[in-house]
Amino acid sequence: MKIVQYAQRGPNPSEFIGAVDVATPTPGEGQVLLQVLAAPINPSDVLTLTGQYGMLPPLPAVGGNEGVGKVVAHGPGVTAPPIGQTVLLPVGSGTWVTHMLADAKKLMPLPNEADPLQLAMMTVNPPTALLMLTEFVTLQAGEWVIQNAANSGVGEYLVQLAKIRGLKTVNIVRRESAIDAVKSAGGDVVLVDGPGLAKRVAEATGDAKIRLAIDAVGGEATNRLSSCLTEGGTLVNYGMMSGQDSVVSPRSFVFKNVTLRGFWLAFWFRNATPQQQMAVFGEIGKLIATGKLKTRVHATYDVADIKQAVAAAAAGERDGKILVVPKD
Ligand SMILES: NC(=O)c1ccc[n+]([C@@H]2O[C@H](COP(=O)([O-])OP(=O)(O)OC[C@H]3O[C@@H](n4cnc5c(N)ncnc54)[C@H](OP(=O)(O)O)[C@@H]3O)[C@@H](O)[C@H]2O)c1
Repeated sequence: MKIVQYAQRGPNPSEFIGAVDVATPTPGEGQVLLQVLAAPINPSDVLTLTGQYGMLPPLPAVGGNEGVGKVVAHGPGVTAPPIGQTVLLPVGSGTWVTHMLADAKKLMPLPNEADPLQLAMMTVNPPTALLMLTEFVTLQAGEWVIQNAANSGVGEYLVQLAKIRGLKTVNIVRRESAIDAVKSAGGDVVLVDGPGLAKRVAEATGDAKIRLAIDAVGGEATNRLSSCLTEGGTLVNYGMMSGQDSVVSPRSFVFKNVTLRGFWLAFWFRNATPQQQMAVFGEIGKLIATGKLKTRVHATYDVADIKQAVAAAAAGERDGKILVVPKD
């Protein structure tokens, strides 16, 4: 079997990683052997490789945080999940591998007939979109929410989840060529970021009072989103794609009473009860399995081509996500 390992971190995310051959392990008591079907490369994975993420595994480490696999062998005493069953890989388990061992009792079975590429991306971005839409402001059907990086994985999930709830979305992208994809995902208004954003948003929404803004970019882009909020509005930052610290003018804080909040899914995983986690993943799992919630895939790479895969994931202006899909 192959695993993607790195023993150092550095500014170039693909510099220190590589696929190595190791012996395929035999599952022990209570364990299963999983064959990995697909595992995405998210911005958080890139930041983990460069050492800029909020939590870093000890080195040497195996890359990859989420993904989907199927059961190929049982250890002693294991009868379920059955051989051939598609399962979610345990989060944070080092998923850029061809095979891995897992505790049979902790695995979440997923529909075998669903698209493994879409299932592989369900642990991180869909719950992030859902929780940001629901945990900070209680929006009523017909209300608007505004977000930037709207053509990202999170952004496209948010558009679809908002639509299901009867909400309308203002979607900000950083380039003209990203507009059509967000419209196809169901975005109501799609605008390119830049000067005069608040005026353009007001024109496009008929002066809607927007109470929730969602920011993945940071820098001055945060300020432009906050300028679009109504009095008492909430701005949630969850990313730093620009690499810059968020700027918010005192005009928003003082004259509009805007609140700035942060969201990190890691904290939610730490604090959410099993029931809360089941509610979120139950909703998301059903929507993804039935094709009602999805995001675009730009390209897939074999484990052996991990350097090219990470370089592609770290590059901008993609048409969707990059995933590791191990060849048989
Ligand atoms: N806080 C949390 O718990 C949490 C959870 C999940 C994700 N996230 C964060 O959410 C963000 C989106 O993740 P994702 O997986 O959905 O991303 P993704 O699908 O890989 O898309 C990346 C997005 O970032 C934009 N972008 C790239 N460089 C940029 C720059 N310099 N300035 C402005 N925009 C830029 C891209 O625009 P182009 O297409 O134009 O390049 C694209 O819209 C990331 O920051 C990620 O770390 C946070």
